[in-house]
Amino acid sequence: MNQILVLEGSPREGNTSTVTDWVLAGMGRGNKVTRVKLCELNIHPCQECFTCMKTKGGAGCAQEDDMVELYDKMVDADLVLWTSPIFCWSVTGQTKMVLDRCFALLTGEDLLKGSKWALVLTAGGDAFDGADLAVAMFSRLSRFGGIKYLGQHVVAPCPDGAKLKKNLGLRAQAMAFGKELAKTLRA
Ligand SMILES: Cc1cc2nc3c(=O)[nH]c(=O)nc-3n(C[C@H](O)[C@H](O)[C@H](O)COP(=O)(O)O)c2cc1C
Repeated sequence: MNQILVLEGSPREGNTSTVTDWVLAGMGRGNKVTRVKLCELNIHPCQECFTCMKTKGGAGCAQEDDMVELYDKMVDADLVLWTSPIFCWSVTGQTKMVLDRCFALLTGEDLLKGSKWALVLTAGGDAFDGADLAVAMFSRLSRFGGIKYLGQHVVAPCPDGAKLKKNLGLRAQAMAFGKELAKTLRA
């Protein structure tokens, strides 16, 4: 049974949650899925103290907030599925804050080396209104950290709310992405 950790970067139960539901449905049963709504956690931005670089054993971050538990979950997961809407040509602040804090796992002991990451994005604009930049950020950061980046599912432009929910074509595409992810995890 694969452990899937879903880091949900939207501040609402909206388009990205809907697409994420579909991707997870496409992955099928038999996975242990933990969905974490980042806006509900007490997480602070990286303070650039570099304690993590000087500390051996674990993440070594000086801040004792909800990232402590999230670090363990990320290291233990068979797949970390990041999900975010595009806000101002990037991921949401909630998502970026967690990404920055991952620096503590990427330095020193390379605790994310060999981890698998994938990405789900929704955007109001087209693929070049920021989703492209977010994809580049994740794939390059993954390369930097020795993380296996399994790819992304981008819905851009994404219909809003009920219109999205009724869109069977977008549902099928998201489920197909989930199915591919599951196949890659089994391989
Ligand atoms: C503050 C804010 C900034 C946004 N900036 C962008 C943007 O730069 N590019 C884009 O394509 N869409 C942008 N959007 C649209 C959202 O990405 C889009 O509506 C998304 O599907 C919302 O997802 P959610 O319902 O999961 O929060 C923005 C929306 C908000 C609220």
